[in-house]
Amino acid sequence: TVDSNFYFTTSQTAEKIYKPRKRFDHKGKFGHVLLVGGSKGMIGAVQLATRSALRSGAGKTSVIVPSCGYEILQATCPEAMCIADPSRNHIVASTLLKPYTAIGIGPGIGKHEQTKKAIRSIIEDAEKPIVLDADALNLLSENSDWWEMIPENSILTPHVGEFERLADIHFINSFDRLEAASKMAQDRKVIIILKGANTAVCLPNGEIHFNSTGNPGLAKGGSGDALLGLITGLLGQKYNSMEAAILGVYIHGKAGDYAAQNMSIESVTTSDVIDHIGKVFLGF
Ligand code: APR
Ligand code: MG
Repeated sequence: TVDSNFYFTTSQTAEKIYKPRKRFDHKGKFGHVLLVGGSKGMIGAVQLATRSALRSGAGKTSVIVPSCGYEILQATCPEAMCIADPSRNHIVASTLLKPYTAIGIGPGIGKHEQTKKAIRSIIEDAEKPIVLDADALNLLSENSDWWEMIPENSILTPHVGEFERLADIHFINSFDRLEAASKMAQDRKVIIILKGANTAVCLPNGEIHFNSTGNPGLAKGGSGDALLGLITGLLGQKYNSMEAAILGVYIHGKAGDYAAQNMSIESVTTSDVIDHIGKVFLGF
């Protein structure tokens, strides 16, 4: 049963996972992350994910956006490389995935028919674990044949609503929901991060790791986008899927705690959270 497999991610757990850099390390050792997201009116979602990846320690960060987001990304994320999709308002094309050490898909993509084809082809071509969020998860819910293309140890980051669409069940009892998430992680051999006030990282081996950081200041639009960027950024480095998921959730919550200490739970924005990711690394 589930209950013998509970863990609690403390600062000690996070510190153990954290891998410090060596004096002569160079950017080639820290991977090349790709984020795929955005649609007209939702460029902010992929921009937040990109800024978060840029704070994760990733060696290089690239992002694919619909062409209406190209100038926005170039102007606000000068450290990232930007690929403009041929379509103006939504993603319609795939790309060569070879150069990338991790790929995060979903923030603000919407569910346009052509976007669905593009995302399907990216998932099909992926040879390493990927990270799926938001409408990438909703597309998966509607196209369950995609499951068999998802690389083992990929990371899925659903909030409760997205998880219930994936499971195709509405849960009254949150323990039943958690048990279903753990079962899905085991059956599908993926990591399910069930997000909320007590985010649970469900591993394919049946372990469930509850996070100890975070506050209701994170209950705001964009917060999940920052989590996707951070986890993808960690996965693209020397962290495996389990480490990237547990550490990413911890750092995201802790950055939210630092940000709320400065700005209040009410006023804190996702941009503030991203700006405090660095302070979390300083604590390791
Ligand atoms: N305490 C601690 N953490 C919280 C709390 C809380 N009370 N509430 C939310 N969080 C954290 C979650 O754990 C998660 O990491 O904030 C993040 C919220 O992520 P999402 O639910 O994905 O929210 P959002 O960023 O708005 O998503 C953007 O994607 O999922 C879609 O429908 C969503 O369109 C929206 C978009
Ligand atoms: Mg979300």
